Amino acid sequence: MKPVPDTGPIDDSAAVYSPLTLALYDAWVLQISNRFAWRCPTRTALLPFYERHLGRKHLDVGVGTGYYLAHCKGANRSSITLMDINVASLQAASRRIRALKPQTIVHNVFTPWETTERYDSISLFYLMHCLSGSVDEKAQVFSHLKACLAPGGTLYGATILGQGVAHNRFGRKLMDVYNAKGIFGNRNDSAEAFIRVLNGLFGSVQAHMVGCVLLFAAQDAPRPCANASESSAGV
Ligand SMILES: C[S@@+](CC[C@H](N)C(=O)[O-])C[C@H]1O[C@@H](n2cnc3c(N)ncnc32)[C@H](O)[C@@H]1O
Repeated sequence: MKPVPDTGPIDDSAAVYSPLTLALYDAWVLQISNRFAWRCPTRTALLPFYERHLGRKHLDVGVGTGYYLAHCKGANRSSITLMDINVASLQAASRRIRALKPQTIVHNVFTPWETTERYDSISLFYLMHCLSGSVDEKAQVFSHLKACLAPGGTLYGATILGQGVAHNRFGRKLMDVYNAKGIFGNRNDSAEAFIRVLNGLFGSVQAHMVGCVLLFAAQDAPRPCANASESSAGV
């Protein structure tokens, strides 16, 4: 990994990802919480969505353990760059997908990334609900990353919502604990707000809900939709 630039203070939403918590992450978040709290199964909902939008030159932002790239069909045909503010996450993910020879970037998504690189696809899975601030404040992340998309490229992701969804008892408990500890900052996040800010930035936005999770994909140039049931930015 390249020398670590100074990204400023790391807040709790990123600092929580230590080698220990990352070792537990797949079981606790991707298997148990996704299925029973957020009702958005990893293997049948999130992974196929990740695969569907993966492009030849791909940037994964907020990498965690690198689960999706490790399981994604076709990832070996893509050139992969990993971006995260947390070096422990970058190390865990890059080690896991070392066969894909990923590049790594230590970067805070709230800061514009000065680069000439352009990506066919940029994924943000379970990043936006970790960030603090309103959805309008979080929109600067979309705006910064949009500048790194190749023409016709796709920015896509998934985020757990706090508004306009019916959390079950397990989900309410996790929302309370995580928001109190600063691990999540999604109390006021709604699908409508995300779709509004994405529509303000991109020419074409598709979004749909699975359980309490919003799955979104946005491109600047409109492109035909594979699935008519998610053909526009309504949920
Ligand atoms: C919940 S994990 C998501 C992991 C993975 N994408 C997934 O869906 O399983 C959130 C990741 O975002 C990173 N992160 C949090 N805040 C960030 C920031 N401001 N800039 C860049 N990465 C950040 C954390 O370090 C962590 O690796």
